[in-house]
Amino acid sequence: MKRVLVLTGGGDCPGLNAVIRAIVKRASREKDWEVVGSIEAFNGILREPTEIVILDEKAVSGIHYQGGTILQTTNKGGPFAWPVKQNDGTYIAVDRSDEMIRKIQYLGIDAVINIGGDGSQRISQALFEKGLNIIGVPKTIDNDLSATDATFGFQTAIQIATEAVDKLVTTAASHNRVQVLEVMGRNAGWIALNAAVAGGAEICLLPEFPYDVEKVMERIDKRFDKGRGFVNVVIAEGAHNIHGDIIGSKSKEVGYENMKLGGVGFRFEEELKQAGCEHSIRTTVLGHLQRGGIPIAYDRVLATQYGVKAFELALAGDYGRMVSYRHPHITSVTLKEAIMKPNLVEPDTALMKTARGIGMCFGD
Ligand code: F6P
Repeated sequence: MKRVLVLTGGGDCPGLNAVIRAIVKRASREKDWEVVGSIEAFNGILREPTEIVILDEKAVSGIHYQGGTILQTTNKGGPFAWPVKQNDGTYIAVDRSDEMIRKIQYLGIDAVINIGGDGSQRISQALFEKGLNIIGVPKTIDNDLSATDATFGFQTAIQIATEAVDKLVTTAASHNRVQVLEVMGRNAGWIALNAAVAGGAEICLLPEFPYDVEKVMERIDKRFDKGRGFVNVVIAEGAHNIHGDIIGSKSKEVGYENMKLGGVGFRFEEELKQAGCEHSIRTTVLGHLQRGGIPIAYDRVLATQYGVKAFELALAGDYGRMVSYRHPHITSVTLKEAIMKPNLVEPDTALMKTARGIGMCFGD
């Protein structure tokens, strides 16, 4: 019997369960493969006793439309930076990757499928270089991986953000207000851009294009006549003005390396007031609502395609690769290529041209 180990790493994302289910269903069509899952990314392997579960068809039945991940996830620590508490209460990061690979071999695991974003696939590549038979599946609501046309979860996040814009438009119009919606998007503004276009926002502020508050004010003023009018702004959490940095703080959570973002919408509200905006302004931070709940059909389909392809790579012994969608094909790229370049909004991105074409203001 051959064994494939599946795990989900990084921030959760709608569609993870659909990938897990597809891997199990595809594997069950082979006589000699079984699927096991590691709880909370690689932690399930690293912990003593190990936390791994058998994933058979019964275990994954009906999970394709459930949000989150039945295997749980984490975006802290990991095999290369396992936090170990010192006598003085501080933590140091310890590399446990060699020990983990030995444990994986001891558990009779022939292949590993790591479902995760950019950070997780960096771990996959480093483990592959150490000889682990590993395959990546791209996951992120941010859509910031350039080696694939799409990541599952992204369209669901856009849908959720668009519904929020739709709701804010009616309240903005009723109150003659500036309504600011802050959405996720650390380095890449894809969710903000798509939700702004779909929801008809007048202003969209992205991490890739630092904004000038004066230019934003000009647009706002044009939308008001004798105090009447309204404006909807979509701002990505990683956006910043031409003079400033992104809003974030170092997290106190052990093993959490990323800056904790959130709050740029409120700072932008203050910037508008300082620039002389006298209109009523309200800010909403959408936060983790964008990552939760039921994946839309598109993401379930893509997730299922990725799951089947990932298992088939394992079947073929084609390791060190990440599943990828290159329209119209579900294909794969090397992990090395997958982590080489982020997918960011560019000035000549087709949707940017469309947005500018309908007069959307980016404050640049
Ligand atoms: O990478 C996905 C993402 O949702 C980012 O857009 C966001 O900055 C980050 O994860 C937040 O992660 P968490 O709060 O779960 O640590």
